[in-house]
Amino acid sequence: MKFFKSLLCTICVCSLFCCTPIQNNKNDEENAVIETIMTRRSVRKYQPQAVNRDTMQVIMECGINAPNAINRQAWEVRVLDNPETIQRLTELYVKENPKEAENTNFRNMFRNAPTIAFIANDTTFAYSPVDCGLMAENMILSAWSMGIGSCCLGGPARFMKANLEANEILKQMGFSENYDLLLCIGFGYPAETPAAKPREVTKVKFLD
Ligand SMILES: Cc1cc2nc3c(=O)[nH]c(=O)nc-3n(C[C@H](O)[C@H](O)[C@H](O)COP(=O)(O)O)c2cc1C
Repeated sequence: MKFFKSLLCTICVCSLFCCTPIQNNKNDEENAVIETIMTRRSVRKYQPQAVNRDTMQVIMECGINAPNAINRQAWEVRVLDNPETIQRLTELYVKENPKEAENTNFRNMFRNAPTIAFIANDTTFAYSPVDCGLMAENMILSAWSMGIGSCCLGGPARFMKANLEANEILKQMGFSENYDLLLCIGFGYPAETPAAKPREVTKVKFLD
């Protein structure tokens, strides 16, 4: 009897810990998630080396743990850190946009990032672009929390779909049928600390 009482007691205590949501009483300045969100900025200048693949693996896992409609996980991702392929794409890009290469900071068409994630959405599922956006933000924030800079990129995705030769490289990435490149994210070790761009707080209104 004594044994069952103590077993019951243990179960009660355990379930209390397991079922109680984590209370975060820390104020904004001490909250690591808020700190990461509020300090993140798009980075467009990086150190030359690609992001360590183990670190990229963590970033990708954070990405696929994003909320997504009916857990269909309607996204596909390819990670590129091969300098030759990045260079080849950049040559094609510069042919069409010669002025951009004149900038002394220009290294490549992915805003100079040495590692790029290509994110494709399922064109047959309406929520897929939303899911991809949420996944992208998880990647960007987890990267920033580990000192990795990033920049979400729509322009390079558009270019790779429009340019015939770049499109051949895109095809070799092997996205499934019905998947369409939506955006890229450039990652790298930052070589700049951009200032925050102002945000319009009036965009948000509380309803009475
Ligand atoms: C969907 C999307 C597409 C973007 N495309 C580009 C792009 O092609 N080139 C670029 O330099 N930045 C791009 N950005 C980055 C935005 O310019 C940047 O997030 C915005 O100016 C706010 O600055 P912040 O990220 O530093 O807060 C893109 C961002 C998003 C969300």
